[in-house]
Amino acid sequence: MVKNKTFTMLKPDSVENGNIGAILEKITTSGFRIVAMKLTQLTTADAKAFYVVHKDRPFFDDLVEYMTRGPIVAAILEKENAVQDFRTLIGATNPSEAAEGTIRNMFAESISQNAVHGSDSDNNAAIESAFHFSEREMF
Ligand code: CMP
Repeated sequence: MVKNKTFTMLKPDSVENGNIGAILEKITTSGFRIVAMKLTQLTTADAKAFYVVHKDRPFFDDLVEYMTRGPIVAAILEKENAVQDFRTLIGATNPSEAAEGTIRNMFAESISQNAVHGSDSDNNAAIESAFHFSEREMF
């Protein structure tokens, strides 16, 4: 089967709470290969651009503040059916609705501070990956 890619961020709460290692282990033992990865911090302009689709939502300002308050881990992941399988692995946006054993069920604090991002389509995975990585950073 053809492998494809998805994009993830371990959000500032995951980094602050010391969960980078545990979350990456869950990702890699679930069959994802890390194609690219970096510890970085979003500027306000970065966060506004990345989440532009949510710009009219009431939580937008809080989302930008949250996503810029500290470092994140950005990564590109490869697997068969990567986008859908990763969304299954991370669980529902709201951790109280996330299935047992999913990353958000295990590590997320709330619907707004929900530990990880996962792309919602192949097209967005490509756009989000290009937002953070150049071709020479992908392996
Ligand atoms: P994610 O799905 O990765 O990308 C959009 C983010 O907006 C989402 O994670 C949450 O961090 C945040 N978000 C989504 N819905 C809500 C909501 N109802 N209230 C607050 N924050 C939200």
